[in-house]
Amino acid sequence: MTRRECLVDKLVMKACMDCPLSLTRTQVVLPDGPLDAEIVLVGEAPGEEEDKEGRPFVGRSGKKLDYLLSLSGISRSQILVTNTVMCRPPGNRNPSAEELKACRKHLDAVLSAYPRKAILAVGDFAIKQIVGREQKAPLKAYHGRRVEDTNPTVIALYHPAAGMHNPNLIPTITKDYENIRVELGRGEVIHDDHRLISPAQAVIMLFGAERFAFDLETTWKKDRVGD
Ligand code: URA
Repeated sequence: MTRRECLVDKLVMKACMDCPLSLTRTQVVLPDGPLDAEIVLVGEAPGEEEDKEGRPFVGRSGKKLDYLLSLSGISRSQILVTNTVMCRPPGNRNPSAEELKACRKHLDAVLSAYPRKAILAVGDFAIKQIVGREQKAPLKAYHGRRVEDTNPTVIALYHPAAGMHNPNLIPTITKDYENIRVELGRGEVIHDDHRLISPAQAVIMLFGAERFAFDLETTWKKDRVGD
């Protein structure tokens, strides 16, 4: 184990009893992905599925996140994914100030273990924790952009669950994630006009939408009833 890997001591994280979440968790949800990744994504807090599996973003928000990241051309396997707190708040409530403070040392260890190019701060909680100051404007006004004067670069993003709560936000959220590469100076991902998606991706994309329109092309034979 290198000295830097020691900074992210997963055994210490697993044994942590420093806040009340340790009494209600099933297990600690450890950072997931390459520890030396250039990009770290920080979400809010583990939910029920994450608490069961011990991995961040594996539930409904996680599926949505995987889809959104695929639009950015950044694969989840290339980035390190973690949360502002590593244990599930009961009933998925917001983490308290005490819990955020207790977990801060683990988050700091993750962020500082290796040189990072960018932090994707997902949702208001993560942005507040990472940027460390109240933003002049709410996320509504600066989403999808680099936060000024941050090193490493911090990109403020809507939480994937925001689109489930408010379907009107879906086009904005989609555009923001598509734009991550541009914000990172890596150039735009060129998508074809037509994108091939699996039925599962279609369900994730449309989740929560009241109405939608689509143009469906299939490989079915023309003489099938209904074609
Ligand atoms: N799962 C996580 O790990 N983090 C979130 O913020 C939401 C779901």
